This record gives sequence, C-alpha cells and structure tokens, in this order.
Amino acid sequence: MTVDSATELYYDPYRPDINADPYPVFRRLRDEAPLYYNAPHDFYAVSRFEDVERCFKDRETFSSAKGAVLEIIRSGLAMPPGVFIFEDPPLHTVHRGLVSRVFTRRRIAGIERQVRAYTERTLDPLVGRGRFDFVRDLGAEMPMRVIGMLLGIPEEAQERVRDFVDAGLQTEEGRPMETGDGFLSGDFFAEYVDWRAAHPSDDLMTELLTLEFEDETGTIRRLAREEILTFVNIIAGAGNETTTRLIGWAGKVLADHPEQRRRLAEDPALIPGAVEELLRFEPPAPHGARHVTRDVEIHGRVVPAGSAMLLLMGAANRDERRYPDPDTFDVHRPPGPHLTFGVGAHFCLGAALARLEGRVALEEVLKRFPEWEVDWSGARLASTSTVRGWDSLPVVVGGAAA
Ligand code: HEM
Repeated sequence: MTVDSATELYYDPYRPDINADPYPVFRRLRDEAPLYYNAPHDFYAVSRFEDVERCFKDRETFSSAKGAVLEIIRSGLAMPPGVFIFEDPPLHTVHRGLVSRVFTRRRIAGIERQVRAYTERTLDPLVGRGRFDFVRDLGAEMPMRVIGMLLGIPEEAQERVRDFVDAGLQTEEGRPMETGDGFLSGDFFAEYVDWRAAHPSDDLMTELLTLEFEDETGTIRRLAREEILTFVNIIAGAGNETTTRLIGWAGKVLADHPEQRRRLAEDPALIPGAVEELLRFEPPAPHGARHVTRDVEIHGRVVPAGSAMLLLMGAANRDERRYPDPDTFDVHRPPGPHLTFGVGAHFCLGAALARLEGRVALEEVLKRFPEWEVDWSGARLASTSTVRGWDSLPVVVGGAAA
C-alpha cells in the first residue's frame, strides 16, 4: 500500500517508514482524527494528551485484562495468572501490591552506587578509542545487569544474564512481537530463585521468598515458586528493552542538540531534567493498548465494546494543546507530566529505576565524552509493537577523552 501523506491520513504501528519519524502523522492524528480507526488492523487510536490520559485512568471501560499490547489483545490469547501488567482489579491490586512491597524507592536508591560502578567499568575501557556504540556498548547490557543486581543474581552468573539479554534482543529484531514473549516465556530465572532460597541475602528475590501475605482465601502464606518466577519475569521483561532504548535515545537526541549537551556536561545538575525531557520527546514505549469493555463515545463517535484501543503516548507527549513548542527538545522545559510511563493504576513500577539508570548513564558518559557525533553508517532503528529505539548507535567522540 502506498500512502500519500499530503492527502490520506494513515497510521499503523507496523510500518517502518512511519516509525522512522511518526511525529508528522501523530500531529495529523491529533488535529484531523483525534479518534482514529485503522480498518486493515481493526483498532482505534487516541493521540491527544487528555484522551490518552482518560483511557489510562478509566480502567473499567479500557481494560488491561486481555493484554496491554495490540497484538496480544487481538490474538485472543488467555493471559497467564499473576502477570499483573495484563490484569484489572481486584487481581491487579493484589499482585501489584505484593511486588510494590519489595520493589521500593529505598531499594532502588540503594543500588545507585552499584549502578555507577558498573557504568564506570563499562565506559572506562572505551576511553581513548575515539568511538563507541551507545546501545551495544552500554544500553544493551546495563538494564539487565541492574535488574540482576536488584534481584540478587550472583555476580559470577552475570555473563549468562548478558547472553540471555542478547538472545532476547535478537529475536525482537525486525518482527512484530506475537505473544508477549520475553516475559511470559522461559524460566531462565528458576535456578537463581532456587539458589536464593538456599542462600538468603537482602535482595529482592530473598524478600519475595520470605514475604508473608493474606491471599484471597484469607490464608496467611508465602508466594509459591511459580508466582515468584512470574513476578521476576515481569520485572525483567518490562524493565529491560525499554531502558536500553532510553539510553540509545539519549545518544541520538543529544547528538542532534550539541549546545544543550555541552550545557549538561558543564552543569550535571541539569541532567535529571534532561532525562525527563528525553522521556517526553522520544518515549521508548510510544504506545500501549486496551480492550474496550462497553460502548463508549469519543469525539462524537461510538467505539463499540470489544474494540482494541491504541493509546499513543508518543503523540500525547507532543500535544500542542498541552506543551508549548512540543517538537522542540529543551532540557530547561519546566517539569510537567508526560505519559511515557503511563498513568493511573498501571503507572510504571520501574519509573524511578529507569530515571536512575538514565541519569547515571548520562552523568558518566558526559564526564568522559562531552562531544560526540553519530556515525550514521552503522546506526539502526528498530521498532517492535511495544518499543521504538536504536539497535545500534555508533558515535565518534571528541573532547578530552577521544
Ligand atoms: C508498566 C514504560 C522501565 C517495570 C509500564 C507502563 C509503561 C512503562 C508505559 C504502563 C503499561 C500499561 O499501563 O499498560 C516504561 C518505560 C521504561 C520502563 C518507557 C524505561 C524508560 C521499567 C523498569 C521496570 C519496569 C526499569 C522494572 C525493573 C514495569 C512494571 C509495570 C510497568 C512491573 C507494570 C505495572 C502495572 O501493570 O501495574 N512501564 N517502563 N519498567 N513497568 Fe515500566
């Protein structure tokens, strides 16, 4: 199908040419079709900030129980129990509540020193080489290493964790995700859960193993091994590729804005704001999805019960009704909400961790490499149904460390 962008308005998340730069289409969707229907793939889409926010918040009308990704909703696959990202209340409340008890802000803040030590170990050998790859050398490994630290996977097993990540990234390349694989499949972590059961420490896995709670029958009990594995897989699956993409976008967007990059290198106190602006400007997960449970009117049209609704966070984050000059990247933009981590009951449980990783990565990169340019001959953009970002982003570095 060819699309003449001057006349026909067409959006689908599977088109590499649209994903290369979706923002002109997103703008047209907001202006011309705030409720959009895609007939070939049979889904609706909302793109304005207030509409995307409304869909996230009205969970009775816009349900996660059939999956929060378009393909999963349309596949009709039954969701395995405990995968709370794909649950509604009351189950979601119970399962998310259990994980929130161990996945705390304090625990995340407590691993900053380790995250920095890992980043330093990764970047130091790159100094003096004149170039490195934001994704392959840093972004692809960091999130999984960090999750490994948080969970309490023994240091000597970290190589295997990396291999697991590499395999995951390869299968995701260039094809739409079909079943939500990655975090619904495999029991890669099983042996570590068993090992931790025999070697308790102060990590997240130990806490999951020892947590006591009242279940739906009123019994006080601990989590079963299968339940722990489900939770560990959700954390690893949701927090891995998204954060890899965030680091890749940092490399790309700051290469495009050298003046702002220099200001960050001179004044690292600006980096947290820059991470926030990066998250708004290039969200690693540009859309989510919901199943519509009852007929609902949006912009004067009825969306029938049973439809799939795409929530375009990438479009909402650039809604001119919400942000002045939304297509301008500005690290000095006053902080305000964006929809990159969703909103409401399913708000990203790992947002604080992603922000920490993004900030530490930028702080340590900018210390060593205040100047860089993308080597476009080796850059590759990937887009699956859940994430959009760089598979590789080689840069040529300048400045003191080149
Ligand atoms: C949920 C994005 C990093 C764990 C979500 C949601 C979004 C999101 C949009 C909401 C999904 C929905 O409402 O359907 C991101 C982005 C990240 C990131 C863009 C990186 C830049 C992380 C990290 C972790 C994590 C590092 C954990 C290690 C989770 C979990 C949920 C979630 C467990 C499910 C929450 C629920 O259903 O109640 N994330 N995420 N995420 N995220 Fe993240």
